[in-house]
Amino acid sequence: MRDWSSRNYHLLLARIQAHLRPRTYVEIGVANGTSLMLALPGTHAVGIDPEPDITWPVEPGTEIYSTTSDEFFANNDLSVILGGLAVDLSFIDGMHHFEFSLRDFMNLEKYSTAQSTVLIHDCYPIDKTTSTRDGNLGIWSGDVWKLILALKEFRPDLKIYTVDVAPTGLGIIRGLDSGSTVLEDNYDKIIERYLTMPYEVVDRDKPRTLNRVPPDWTTVRGLLPDQPFRSVNPTWLFCRRAARYAPHLLLNLRLGRSKQRGAGVRAYKFYLAAPQRVRKRAR
Ligand SMILES: C[S@@+](CC[C@H](N)C(=O)[O-])C[C@H]1O[C@@H](n2cnc3c(N)ncnc32)[C@H](O)[C@@H]1O
Repeated sequence: MRDWSSRNYHLLLARIQAHLRPRTYVEIGVANGTSLMLALPGTHAVGIDPEPDITWPVEPGTEIYSTTSDEFFANNDLSVILGGLAVDLSFIDGMHHFEFSLRDFMNLEKYSTAQSTVLIHDCYPIDKTTSTRDGNLGIWSGDVWKLILALKEFRPDLKIYTVDVAPTGLGIIRGLDSGSTVLEDNYDKIIERYLTMPYEVVDRDKPRTLNRVPPDWTTVRGLLPDQPFRSVNPTWLFCRRAARYAPHLLLNLRLGRSKQRGAGVRAYKFYLAAPQRVRKRAR
């Protein structure tokens, strides 16, 4: 049977969402909503981005904060926003500079529990050119890979993996401890050590340095919590989402707004295919 979720990080994210069925999901860096719309119905989803440009049909009720992640965490108490719940699943995909991703991780961990999972995009870099700190290329993963190295050194208590999924990898961090102050206490030292670290350090032995795991679902599933946070059937969630969005997408197609049209067609195909895929691959 084909492992469809190993093809790229969006498909893998879709599968992780279906497997975990989190009560709460926080995404830093939402852009046009391609990854945010993968949150399933009933998930309290929060997106943070200074320039959100949502063209994909995210779930109604999704909260988008138009601000940088640093400002968001300085001015908001995430647990109040989430009605007292912890962050079950989060995804860091904002500013692709090491120090930003480090702060995003530190802030999200404060609202996580031992059952939570933090996902980090762009931490398995392709090459030196796409890993510079100036993001003027199509594919740009910046120096987010340094976050994996810094966590390995300063937080050996965490479970740290990097899925080698296209195009630039997906970090999976588990064993979170909201009470840990190690990163905060050593922030200046970490920045001093890692900010100027050259790409060659990771390139010598990328798989070992970044705790690489292959992108097949059996492997990835083994790194995640066994049980979903909500017991509702994922096929039912996909169907509910499809039913809700089909008219909305068709309307967008008819309106002929070019940006929406492309997104609409892709999303519609995805929704139609998803329940079948879940049924076929159910455990
Ligand atoms: C690569 S895009 C996100 C893609 C999206 N997560 C996906 O997979 O479809 C990165 C986003 O991060 C946002 N961003 C840049 N700096 C940020 C910051 N300091 N805090 C939060 N988001 C930021 C950008 O505006 C951009 O929309």
